[in-house]
Amino acid sequence: MSRLLVTGGAGFIGSNFVHHVVAHTDHTVTVLDKLTYAGNRASLEGLPSDRVRLVVGDIADADVVYPLVAEADAVVHYAAESHNDNSLHDPRPFLDTNIIGTYTLLEAARRHDVRFHHISTDEVYGDLELDDPARFTENTPYNPSSPYSSTKAGSDLLVRAWVRSFGVRATISNCSNNYGPYQHVEKFIPRQITNVLRGIRPKLYGTGENVRDWIHADDHSSAVLTILDRGEIGETYLIGADGEKDNKSVVELILRITGQPVNAYDLVTDRPGHDLRYAIDSTKLRTELGWEPTYGDFESGLAATIEWYRDNEAWWAPAKDGVEAFYASKGQ
Ligand SMILES: NC(=O)c1ccc[n+]([C@@H]2O[C@H](COP(=O)([O-])OP(=O)(O)OC[C@H]3O[C@@H](n4cnc5c(N)ncnc54)[C@H](O)[C@@H]3O)[C@@H](O)[C@H]2O)c1
Repeated sequence: MSRLLVTGGAGFIGSNFVHHVVAHTDHTVTVLDKLTYAGNRASLEGLPSDRVRLVVGDIADADVVYPLVAEADAVVHYAAESHNDNSLHDPRPFLDTNIIGTYTLLEAARRHDVRFHHISTDEVYGDLELDDPARFTENTPYNPSSPYSSTKAGSDLLVRAWVRSFGVRATISNCSNNYGPYQHVEKFIPRQITNVLRGIRPKLYGTGENVRDWIHADDHSSAVLTILDRGEIGETYLIGADGEKDNKSVVELILRITGQPVNAYDLVTDRPGHDLRYAIDSTKLRTELGWEPTYGDFESGLAATIEWYRDNEAWWAPAKDGVEAFYASKGQ
């Protein structure tokens, strides 16, 4: 049994990971989360208090971070400012959390010689042309587009340097776009689902041709546990489930599953610098570590996610009006 310190464990993917760890392992979990607008205590409700505890604090605060890292067997680092649109509006918190926060955790892991796994995104690689057959691999050069992805790229490079220069026992994973329960309504899929549930027409940026490579958050969690168990120190692993879909198809699928006409959506102003296409080649993770996703069928995973939002309006409703007001102010 291990003691995990999970940063950002009250956010979308971090809370899915904590639920997954409780269900599939004997590990205990300390969540360190600042509870920004994106963090939600309610995402950890129902978990056993003898296995999971929440510490509210900032990953950039060394006084909070060092004692928690000292008592952990491994750090799994999810905490980040994560929303591209926010990073275009105000980049500063992205630097504070994604760069200085990661630096603070790495220094603590170095001091206490604690295993470290860094969660990152495929957005560090920039984007691909729509008609390009290529997919991202661990050898694709970094080419981030936004303040969000550039700070994530910077944090990945810090981890690599702390492995090489100081011998920190770290691994990195870069995952494609996640969907599933507990995702904030500012993000594409939950925004469109909750629009439909509220009787608002879904909103599609530009012409909706941008492609994302979708993976269920639970598959992301099993991949991270696999890397923690069997990953080689210093290595990077790409995580993806061969789930490429253009945004228009995703909105049409949400409308079809919820019994609406598939053209009942609005086209809105595109995001500046909007990446065209992401696609992950996860061969290394599958062949070297033997990981496979279990949510092979995007449509049934999406239908289950829609049901979750239908059943958990109390979880998302408090944020919905503010998010829509923010987008409306930008014509989106
Ligand atoms: N969402 C995706 O599709 C996706 C895909 C690949 C990788 N990732 C990465 O996964 C991680 C989690 O993403 P998410 O979508 O769950 O994000 P999220 O915004 O839902 O959650 C982030 C969490 O971090 C916490 N946090 C923010 N700043 C903090 C700070 N300074 N100190 C402590 N806690 C802080 C927030 O309160 C929140 O609970 C991020 O590192 C992100 O880059 C996300």
